[in-house]
Amino acid sequence: MASHSSIAEASNQPLSIAVFGASGDLALKKIYPALFALFCQQLLPAHFKIIGYARTELSHDAFRDRIMRHLTCRYVPGEKCEERMQAFLAACEYVSGGYDSIEGYRKLDAAMKCFGPDQAENRLFYMSIPPFLFLDVANTMHTAGLESRPPNAWSRVVLEKPFGSDRASSDFLTENMAKVFTEDQTYRIDHYLGKEVIQNLMVLRFANLIFDPIWNRSCIHHVCISWGEDIGVEGRAGYFDQYGILRDVMQNHLLQIMALAAMEEPIRLDAKYIRDEKVKVLRGVPALTLNDVVIGQYTAGEHNGAHHKGYLEEEGIPPHSITPTYGAAVLKIHNRRWDGVPFLIRAGKGLRDRRTEIRIRFREVPANLFTPNSADIAPNELVIRVQPDAEISFQITTKVPGLNIALAKNDLNLQYASAFQTIIPDAYECLLLDVLEGDRSLFIRADELEAAWDIFTPVLHDLESCTIQPQGYPFGSTGPQAAQALAALHGVEW
Ligand code: BG6
Repeated sequence: MASHSSIAEASNQPLSIAVFGASGDLALKKIYPALFALFCQQLLPAHFKIIGYARTELSHDAFRDRIMRHLTCRYVPGEKCEERMQAFLAACEYVSGGYDSIEGYRKLDAAMKCFGPDQAENRLFYMSIPPFLFLDVANTMHTAGLESRPPNAWSRVVLEKPFGSDRASSDFLTENMAKVFTEDQTYRIDHYLGKEVIQNLMVLRFANLIFDPIWNRSCIHHVCISWGEDIGVEGRAGYFDQYGILRDVMQNHLLQIMALAAMEEPIRLDAKYIRDEKVKVLRGVPALTLNDVVIGQYTAGEHNGAHHKGYLEEEGIPPHSITPTYGAAVLKIHNRRWDGVPFLIRAGKGLRDRRTEIRIRFREVPANLFTPNSADIAPNELVIRVQPDAEISFQITTKVPGLNIALAKNDLNLQYASAFQTIIPDAYECLLLDVLEGDRSLFIRADELEAAWDIFTPVLHDLESCTIQPQGYPFGSTGPQAAQALAALHGVEW
């Protein structure tokens, strides 16, 4: 979101980044590569240090080896890459210690300082750790005085979801974190907001006049937001079984996408105004009930010629777990623009394809001149595909060339790969740069989080207290049949 000019002004001020959970997957696969990408584009300040902090005992060099395995030369192909990597790795250090060890944090503090006595460095704390550690880390950090800065420097914290597991636990976390970091210092990441196509949603809607008059209940029949992965829990059994797909993907990524698709135009491109509009949408969504939701769990199946275990057979999953690996829900937004328009959201692991997309289905042409020739022609649909291939397509009805009038559905298609000859940045690159620039537009504000939990908390409690069994669906399929039935109730074919 940020314009990226301010980093140059800030570049004289040194920067120390502490990555908690530095030896974990997220840090090694996403955070360090994103920081390296920013470094290659000269978007980090001239003087910076990145200090990894975790419990594992490791030497600086052993840690650098681990980081290096995940760095790529996307921005500096060829011979220069090795040189850039070495320069980047020289700024990376490692400190081992417990997450509640004052002594460990003092070592970290000393490592973060080293820019000379007159140079107050800015400090960024990235919590790439399980959420149950957030408060321990923040409190110990506070006792050790890590986050306190002189007036000419900032300190900021980045938190990775899940932020609690329902409204009450989320509020508890927010209130207690606020004792160490103010809301303005807090950057709650939802990495989907950093994805290129998701960032384009606002541009598409508000920089193209054509969508303005049709983006409402008069012209739109329904909106579907689908998210799917063709993999299982992949070594994250402990985490996943505790949270399930509703908390892992639907309450955050999918609600955020929905809010961007449904919100009013903000009065300015500024974090406050953008987030105000998203909150209004989320507050207009009544809490889901059991009737609005379907849950599923993958069973064993064949996928791409290979046999895949069912969820209950995955290592680390309790044999009678009722944690959903699939969820579908129908949401309504009570406002003048969207009254009566169903927003269907669904997310699943172990599906046939990896795919995330938004489909905006328009209403049928009234009193269609071409009926019956158009009898089986579906209405217009705008498809915004986030992955695997970024793409925006608009399905229109056209005449099939020939001597009679026959109609067909065709695509106006924008494929990012061929339209833009440029490197598409990873979501984490974009979000980390925004943190450095102090732009919070793409981060979740506390009241957004509350509103999102208010939509999901009652149904999550009902599903759990009534021990509702998820419907089985074979690995590699399109999900449970009950999801089709739910969609059909709203006139939608999934
Ligand atoms: C994370 C979820 O937020 O997003 C994971 O916790 C999921 O379960 C991941 O696999 C998917 O991210 P991406 O960017 O690969 O689509």
